[in-house]
Amino acid sequence: MAIQISPSILSADFAHLADEAAAVSPSADWLHVDVMDGHFVPNLTLGLPVVESLLKATDTPLDCHLMIEEPDRWAPAYAEAGAGSVTIHAKAAAAPVRTLREIRRLGARAGLALNPAEPVEPYADIVGEMDMLLLMTVEPGFGGQSFLDVVLPKIRRAREILDTREASVWLQVDGGVSAETIERAAEAGADVFVAGSAVYGAQDPAQAVDRLRALAAGAAGAE
Ligand code: DX5
Ligand code: ZN
Repeated sequence: MAIQISPSILSADFAHLADEAAAVSPSADWLHVDVMDGHFVPNLTLGLPVVESLLKATDTPLDCHLMIEEPDRWAPAYAEAGAGSVTIHAKAAAAPVRTLREIRRLGARAGLALNPAEPVEPYADIVGEMDMLLLMTVEPGFGGQSFLDVVLPKIRRAREILDTREASVWLQVDGGVSAETIERAAEAGADVFVAGSAVYGAQDPAQAVDRLRALAAGAAGAE
């Protein structure tokens, strides 16, 4: 299981996003872009124009996490713009299967996200429709929150579901991932790790990415 690290630019300096992207290159596998609309979550960040500019400013693929209402309507444009991965929230989507298919058709990887209290079992039959399952390990909306250990059993159950179906679906965790928590998430079966404050709060963001990867790989290998 290859470990991937996706630094979240939510904790970066929004006035210098190109520099902040460069600060984690080439260590980072992805740049995690948190799109928040002030409705689905109580915070407002950025949207398509910023993503389009960022795509021109970095070679690191963009992992767009849409915390927005009506993702069925808005998600395809992110795939069309050239995002490498587009993740929608299950409970916000009116037609998740259709939207995941549309994201794939437009050339991006399709992700489905679940909040901490949302069960994974109802989605077991549609894992073949997604390239990534994102399990939130904080309530979405803000960076710098504490990792919710209550999600660990769900990470294990999700790993079992994905392994049983033999689907090559990545299992991403997002929220509170740090040097203190990443091993627990990796042991439980996650393989893609979003980290905002743990990366951009560090003196050397690229080094922080390398350290997180090494910790996760060690914990995953110990399984
Ligand atoms: C929270 C966002 C996260 C956030 C993570 O709703 O989806 O991607 O940036 O930040 P940290 O790693 O600081 O918890
Ligand atoms: Zn996120």
